[in-house]
Amino acid sequence: MASHSVVSLFFIYISLFSSLCLADDPFVSYEFVLSYITASPLGVPQQVIAINGHFPGPVINVTTNNNVVVNVRNKLDEDLLITWAGIQQRRSSWQDGVLGTNCPIPPKWNWTYQFQVKDQIGSFFYFPSLNFQRASGGYGGFIINNRDIIPIPFATPDGDITILIGDWYTRNHTALRRELNGGKNLGMPDGVLINGKGPYRYNTTLVPDGIDYETIDVHPGKTYRIRVHNVGVSTSLNFRIQNHNLLLAETEGSYTVQQNYTSLDIHVGQSYSFLVTMDQNASSDYYIVASARFVNESLWQRVTGVGILHYSNSKGKASGPLPDPPNDQFDKTFSMNQARSIRMDYGEWTENSRGTYNKWDGIARTTTQVFPGAWTAILISLDNVGVWNLRTENLDSWYLGQETYVRVVNPEETNKTELPMPDNALFCGSLSRLQKPEDISSATSILGSRSKLFMILVTMIYVVISIFC
Ligand SMILES: *[C@@H]1O[C@H](CO)[C@@H](O)[C@H](O)[C@H]1NC(C)=O
Ligand SMILES: *[C@@H]1O[C@H](CO)[C@@H](O)[C@H](O)[C@H]1NC(C)=O
Ligand SMILES: *[C@@H]1O[C@H](CO)[C@@H](O)[C@H](O)[C@H]1NC(C)=O
Ligand SMILES: *[C@@H]1O[C@H](CO)[C@@H](O)[C@H](O)[C@H]1NC(C)=O
Ligand SMILES: *[C@@H]1O[C@H](CO)[C@@H](O)[C@H](O)[C@H]1NC(C)=O
Ligand SMILES: *[C@@H]1O[C@H](CO)[C@@H](O)[C@H](O)[C@H]1NC(C)=O
Ligand SMILES: *[C@@H]1O[C@H](CO)[C@@H](O)[C@H](O)[C@H]1NC(C)=O
Ligand SMILES: *[C@@H]1O[C@H](CO)[C@@H](O)[C@H](O)[C@H]1NC(C)=O
Repeated sequence: MASHSVVSLFFIYISLFSSLCLADDPFVSYEFVLSYITASPLGVPQQVIAINGHFPGPVINVTTNNNVVVNVRNKLDEDLLITWAGIQQRRSSWQDGVLGTNCPIPPKWNWTYQFQVKDQIGSFFYFPSLNFQRASGGYGGFIINNRDIIPIPFATPDGDITILIGDWYTRNHTALRRELNGGKNLGMPDGVLINGKGPYRYNTTLVPDGIDYETIDVHPGKTYRIRVHNVGVSTSLNFRIQNHNLLLAETEGSYTVQQNYTSLDIHVGQSYSFLVTMDQNASSDYYIVASARFVNESLWQRVTGVGILHYSNSKGKASGPLPDPPNDQFDKTFSMNQARSIRMDYGEWTENSRGTYNKWDGIARTTTQVFPGAWTAILISLDNVGVWNLRTENLDSWYLGQETYVRVVNPEETNKTELPMPDNALFCGSLSRLQKPEDISSATSILGSRSKLFMILVTMIYVVISIFC
């Protein structure tokens, strides 16, 4: 299927300074209660995963060096883990929230994540990592701000806006899981959501009446930092705002070459920050669009997310056709050049390709796209000891097993070894007899016959890393 044409890989973030100063740095605490609520983002009522009653969940907003404490209470009817996409938890894969390094939080239980965010400043998001749950929600933005003494390469914006875009099915994650388990393809999504809401009715034939859409309120002349995350299942999306330039400033904790785009392809799992100046004359509102890429657009027309950018002095509603997507539906060159412009080739990778690597201004980030029939080289500095998950970001491929674990060990006698197992670590599988019941009522849920809970044995693999010198 065309939407599978781009695979985003997650990889280990690079960092150079590894001092550990947990004690002196401030703590920031969050309480997350995950439960089902009924919502109708595309006009069809369905159960979605809410956090504290909200879909999508709240934005976590912290400053680098903060110790982040998130107590997660699982009110779903299945196991849960929350993962922090791209955020390295300093030398503690105990907090990574993926199966294989963490035992799941059983229904009715709570578990407290605690980790320090360090050496990373930028835009990330969190989501539930098990059981295809991300297809039903449970996600939200995660901002790591700079400390005052660390300068950022642009003026402080007048506002900070998080936009979550993603393909969406009216079937819930259990139904979608059943199809994948049955060897079926999920087929075309039913729509694209913007901040958990369906499309603005820009066309009365294509969009039914009565759908709640997202409105972003802005003031003329101001510049906003707009953080856009593709939290969907498997659709690459082209993001654009009518009549407005998107000045790309950051991606997943790395500042980029600042460059204006009229639209940008955002693949599943990726995050970008744009600086957008409200420099139009507000003769009307403006469309915010996230449309599927690399597909037959006439077939996929209804799979388009449309929100509204509303100036405080706007003179009317947005009307007319949506701003055009790039005119290259079956041509990957545009998207690939764009990706390379952000600094990332066609064809078969060979030893000689090493000579063409971008060694000068490659950027550190936590996802990378691999175009079909093409390759992407990544340089990883394995300085964060622990066991880390390397996976495809497309949720269906990940669910079907496209992942592996990398164990990073430090043979030297230093203090830069893995943090000890936290006191509240859960045990499961062959170690489940070590688990103390949380309370009498839920004890059986982990000590009983939960045979599907097992600790995935981590395979030691040798990672072949290209040496860049
Ligand atoms: C998911 O959808 C199925 C129907 O396909 C329904 O039986 C089930 O209750 C739903 N699950 C949740 C958690 O809403
Ligand atoms: C995040 O918190 C900082 C203060 O630490 C505040 O200045 C900023 O406006 C907040 N950002 C968002 C998006 O809430
Ligand atoms: C569950 O939450 C309570 C606070 O409500 C906390 O004291 C306890 O440590 C949490 N349990 C785990 C396993 O993190
Ligand atoms: C709405 O979309 C349909 C189907 O693409 C198209 O034929 C029609 O011209 C559109 N209407 C308007 C007012 O643009
Ligand atoms: C980007 O576009 C804005 C207008 O929207 C312009 O003011 C700015 O100079 C441009 N920046 C670059 C780096 O091209
Ligand atoms: C406002 O901008 C639109 C197009 O962006 C233009 O057609 C219109 O004439 C402008 N109006 C004024 C008052 O400048
Ligand atoms: C896109 O789909 C439409 C409707 O099925 C079809 O008529 C058209 O030929 C397709 N376009 C391409 C380029 O495949
Ligand atoms: C590790 O830390 C301890 C106490 O913090 C210190 O005494 C010891 O010298 C350190 N070891 C190394 C190899 O740095």
